[in-house]
Amino acid sequence: MVHTVRHSAPVHDRLHGHQSRDLPPRANHHANPPQPRRTVSLPDLLRLLSDWSTGAGPLYRKLADRLGELIAEGALGEGTLLPSERTLASALSVSRRTVEAAHDLLWAREFVQRRTGVGTWCTPGQAVPRQARPDPSAAPEDFIEHLLRDVGPLDLTVAGLPAHPLVAQAPQASQSYREEMRYDTHGYFATGFEPLLTEICAWFSSRGIPTDPQQVVVTTGAAQALWLAASLLAPGAEVHVENPTSPTILNALRAHRLRLLPVPTDAGGMMTETIAGAQSSAIFVTPSYLNPSGAHLSEARCRSLAGRARAGTMLVEDLALTDISLDGPAPRTIAALAPDAPVLSIGSLSKLYWAGLRLGWIRGPAPLIRRINRMKANLDIGTGVNIQAQATWLLQHGEEVRHDRVLQVRTQRDALLEALRTELPEWRWTVPDGGLSVWLERPSGEVGALCQRALRQGLRLLPGRAFDVRRQDDRHVRLPFVHPPAVGREIVRRLAVTART
Ligand SMILES: Cc1ncc(COP(=O)(O)O)c(C=O)c1O
Repeated sequence: MVHTVRHSAPVHDRLHGHQSRDLPPRANHHANPPQPRRTVSLPDLLRLLSDWSTGAGPLYRKLADRLGELIAEGALGEGTLLPSERTLASALSVSRRTVEAAHDLLWAREFVQRRTGVGTWCTPGQAVPRQARPDPSAAPEDFIEHLLRDVGPLDLTVAGLPAHPLVAQAPQASQSYREEMRYDTHGYFATGFEPLLTEICAWFSSRGIPTDPQQVVVTTGAAQALWLAASLLAPGAEVHVENPTSPTILNALRAHRLRLLPVPTDAGGMMTETIAGAQSSAIFVTPSYLNPSGAHLSEARCRSLAGRARAGTMLVEDLALTDISLDGPAPRTIAALAPDAPVLSIGSLSKLYWAGLRLGWIRGPAPLIRRINRMKANLDIGTGVNIQAQATWLLQHGEEVRHDRVLQVRTQRDALLEALRTELPEWRWTVPDGGLSVWLERPSGEVGALCQRALRQGLRLLPGRAFDVRRQDDRHVRLPFVHPPAVGREIVRRLAVTART
């Protein structure tokens, strides 16, 4: 059956610059045979397919199963034309015969229709109401798509460590705040949990940024803090952002439909000299340490950004990784250099303690923080008080945890880099002096296809395009050093095998 309903463009098209498009309407749907009605871009389809090739069984069947799931759940809406078999085969680094066989299977299962000269397109999913708009969450960033699947043993799509042992003690230990947690009240702590705000103020003060509780909002991780910061800006506003950068930052900016202006980076972080004189509504920067490369901002560039903030540009500095300083003290923050300027500084427990806590914070001038607090309260009325009490206790043990983590991560980094020097000597990288990952350059490129083949070796990697404002980088891959040394060596061995095949 052919629908006469024309869906509006998928929401994510609008968010992501029209990467997939509705096809022009035909004069009379009823009179015409079934036909495709929209396309999906290759990058969006690759994000949705995610780790399709892991697990047992022939490749064609795994591809058909994954495409079938996407069609059934409406992520590939009715009438979506799939890329040509040749194009898809090349992007997935499989033979054309594999894609043909997958399409044959999907056709036999009535998930697709096809016609010579037109191609293969999706038929409606049974589970999704016919009139539903196309899935607005379709094709989120690659790493979110991976998070929605189960976590495999060699998952490298997230630069996060397993929990520090103190995290498991925190629920019990935090009962020492029983009185402050006020179990006798309704339990909404919309302005944050006082003892935690005090600890966060101490965290900033020890980094040279005097802070009082009116300048802090507790958030659900740095991810929510970035989201809240981005929502201060009007859609379409121009934002300078370092390139490459964390997919979490890109996610927040794209979701708010901001115009991203990429600023190149080198070993000294964001190359601010390339934007001298260029204006924007805001600058998003990771002074220490850049995810993916581990770069940190040079003193001169930090001063230059502080100057821009003093002149009125909103500056958002992401300090989520600042405590993972492996070869010396963490560099200065921008807020320390421009205490009264519109600088928003973001921190998190995710990298030092554990991402499972989902706890972060944002600090800035009190008037901006009041706005952010109101938005946060509108979203979720405040972060759960139990977790805030645990965070308070954990932050009080910050020095001990930092000491353990630096030793652990330094050993892991060194083992991984040693293995890379042996196994992939022709690849290039800069030794990161902080953070949780190294940014590898493969001189021969084609990293997207390499990541597809790595899946078949049991390695889930994020290719360079996931960190690229323009989503084009095909020369780099990020390798986190979050696993013990023996696992790190095995990861590099598998990567080298993949690179040679
Ligand atoms: C630079 C950066 N900012 C923010 C985040 C998200 O952190 P959280 O888990 O606190 O939301 C990450 C995590 O990968 C990151 O690398």
